[in-house]
Amino acid sequence: MPGHLLGLRNWKMEHIQEVMERSFFLSRYRERKLDYLRGKLVAALFFEPSTRTKFSFEVAARWLSADFYDFPVEMSSVVKGESLLDTILTLKSMGLNALILRHPQSGTLEWLQNKVDITLINAGDGSHEHPTQALLDIFTIQKYFDRLKGLKIAMVGDIKHSRVVRSSIKGLKEMGAEVYLVGPPTLLPYCFQETGAKVGSSLEEVIKEADVVYLLRLQRERQQAGLLPSLEEYSYLYGLNIERLLLLKEGAMVMHPGPLNIGVEITQEALDKLHTSPPSGITVSIQRQVENGIIVRAALLDFLLKGDG
Ligand code: NCD
Repeated sequence: MPGHLLGLRNWKMEHIQEVMERSFFLSRYRERKLDYLRGKLVAALFFEPSTRTKFSFEVAARWLSADFYDFPVEMSSVVKGESLLDTILTLKSMGLNALILRHPQSGTLEWLQNKVDITLINAGDGSHEHPTQALLDIFTIQKYFDRLKGLKIAMVGDIKHSRVVRSSIKGLKEMGAEVYLVGPPTLLPYCFQETGAKVGSSLEEVIKEADVVYLLRLQRERQQAGLLPSLEEYSYLYGLNIERLLLLKEGAMVMHPGPLNIGVEITQEALDKLHTSPPSGITVSIQRQVENGIIVRAALLDFLLKGDG
């Protein structure tokens, strides 16, 4: 048993496979409430905004009959100066079994892991990892293509600040996919060459070959001055527009973790076309990713909490 989910980097291949198998199993029962986690208390503590991740965990936990508590950071003692550790220890004393934490500081969960005796789940720490997004994306790809082995997954855009990329590279490669990273050189540091992903800067070349074109959200809140000349130039060079959409190969899937910056990583016209009259065989899975997020997060909670008395 892995105990926590801090990131996919320190997770074994068997753990990823186990969550995938459970997700496929649970997806058959989405219409009815299950009682696998009755009596468990799960809390979310989010120090950064979130709509879909937090709500998705809440729906997942309630689906499996766990009690879910959304800890309001802005009204809590954390604001009065109580440390993060004290807050978590207080929650633990109230019977908490698992804490889902989002924090702007990379590495926060690693720092906490030996200090608290509850299951920790990383819902995004700075630019470091966002493992549940990677797991739900792996599930979405696996479900659509019926395999991961040999698929070419192109992740496009703000690689430098992306916690989704850092988690996904490990997970996708473990499952046999080939990962391509494309973005402006200022947002695609050299260290990514060491991940085993193929690194490039021409979007046109890569999207012609890709089975999945994964658009990343430009992390405007994490940009330092000078990395981007302008949003218009970024969109011109790396945004998905109608011309680029027509280059995608038949059967390809377009993904995005949300929330979308329309007019930056994708134009409104390209998005409308994907929703209303996509080029032959092309699919967009943004909605499907959200639906699958509930299933995968439920599978993860069940996996992590099943042996927890
Ligand atoms: C991601 C996040 O917050 O890191 N979004 C999400 O969880 N739905 C991706 C992003 O914001 O870029």
